[in-house]
Amino acid sequence: MASQSQSSNREFVENWNLAQTLGEGAYGEVKLLINRQSGEAVAMKMIDMEKHPDAEASVKKEVCIQKILSHPNILKFFGKRTQGSIEYIFLEYAAGGELFDRIEPDIGMPSSEAQRYFNQVLAGVEYLHSRGIAHRDLKPENILLDDHDNIKISDYGMATVFRLKGKERMLDKKCGTLPYVAPEVLVKPYFAQPADIWSCGIILVTMLAGELPWDQPTLSCKEYLYWKENKYTTITPWTKLDTFTLSFIRKILVPNPEKRLTLEKIKQHKWCQSQALTTGMSRDICDGLASPISKRLKSNQDLYNTNLDDSHARMYSHSQPPLMLANDDCKSDLLTVEARNDYCFSQPTMLDDLLICTQLNATQGSNVNSNPFQRLVKRMTRFFVSTKCDDTIRRLTSVVDKFGWTWKLNEDSSVTISTLDRRKLQLIFKANLLEMDGKILLDFRLSKGCGLDFKRNFVKIKNSKEIADAVLNIPVNFSLATQVA
Ligand code: ADE
Repeated sequence: MASQSQSSNREFVENWNLAQTLGEGAYGEVKLLINRQSGEAVAMKMIDMEKHPDAEASVKKEVCIQKILSHPNILKFFGKRTQGSIEYIFLEYAAGGELFDRIEPDIGMPSSEAQRYFNQVLAGVEYLHSRGIAHRDLKPENILLDDHDNIKISDYGMATVFRLKGKERMLDKKCGTLPYVAPEVLVKPYFAQPADIWSCGIILVTMLAGELPWDQPTLSCKEYLYWKENKYTTITPWTKLDTFTLSFIRKILVPNPEKRLTLEKIKQHKWCQSQALTTGMSRDICDGLASPISKRLKSNQDLYNTNLDDSHARMYSHSQPPLMLANDDCKSDLLTVEARNDYCFSQPTMLDDLLICTQLNATQGSNVNSNPFQRLVKRMTRFFVSTKCDDTIRRLTSVVDKFGWTWKLNEDSSVTISTLDRRKLQLIFKANLLEMDGKILLDFRLSKGCGLDFKRNFVKIKNSKEIADAVLNIPVNFSLATQVA
């Protein structure tokens, strides 16, 4: 344990300590860096170009686009550097984690919270569009939260320029993540703005219902077909929404992009402005429209014989593979982006060390217990245990064996767990052992597969006898943690 701590909190470059892993992207990990003098935190995305030669265009584009962006709801870009085959991208650290983490499987979140997040997502997307940028992969996994619970739209690997010097072009690259992608993206050249707006609508549904409405917006997908043909009223997630909310979402998730609400109209809609939602008051006072659809259905249940009883979740994860098909229309964009250096956000003052290409120092350790620069991290899928590191790993792996899943112990003492989700798709998640105030925090992260099934499996592990016996009853939504190894 002591030796693991010794090597855990490594000095990355002078004065910057490499703290815990924040997440895993398609091409590599995101780590938290803490400045030893100022305590400032920066997120560092690492992409090994030798391992992922296909990432080059996406990384270049991400950097070019993020450089020109500055808005409170857009994750800030601080700089990048190349070291050997590794590209390091330095980004604002969003201490609140992912929006995805605030969504309870099959339940969602209170509508007042969803309204607040949705308005901030709209503000960020409106800004992107005003700068001629389409995000093209908006989903809760790409939306982070800062320590004040403010939205930070991240991941610009699929973003593109759709308007330059006032001239708009249509896009034709099929990209995004299937459950969030607009139907027109899958069939023909499409306009950038309505496609992003569609994804915002799907994000709103997942926030309010804790499930995705369909796997993909194609006629072969019956849930989408029912929606398109107005035969959806007895199906979840729609049965979970009141009529006021549903009528709003009907105007966003309009299959014809020309008839879809614009951002301007969405912002003006009563649902976005309603104080009743903001204060968490009864929705019935929202202009008298609201009665949950499930209640209304009691009287007209037989009208539609489409009750699919399909309440199983359709939530996907980070790893829900984004589409990346032919027609890369991105490269030319990179050359034409009008780069501006008008960053008006405050940057960490100690960034120079990171951006200047010095010899990386990944060997000097500092004792984790004496590190004063621990950070707030907000996550649901974690808990404290009373057991020591080795015993915790032994208990965890024995539970995983019992469930018939497979596991691998990594060098950093994390355990990678692999199984299948409800749809028989691969589900991989990692259990990290973090140390905080001398106690072990077991922190679970999704690497690949369905996010809702990940959360269900997390609960199964937590409730198993071996682990439940070790769980400490300490709240950990906000916790000061550093990686054990
Ligand atoms: N996970 C991925 N990127 C992150 C960031 N910038 N801040 C916090 N968590 C993250």
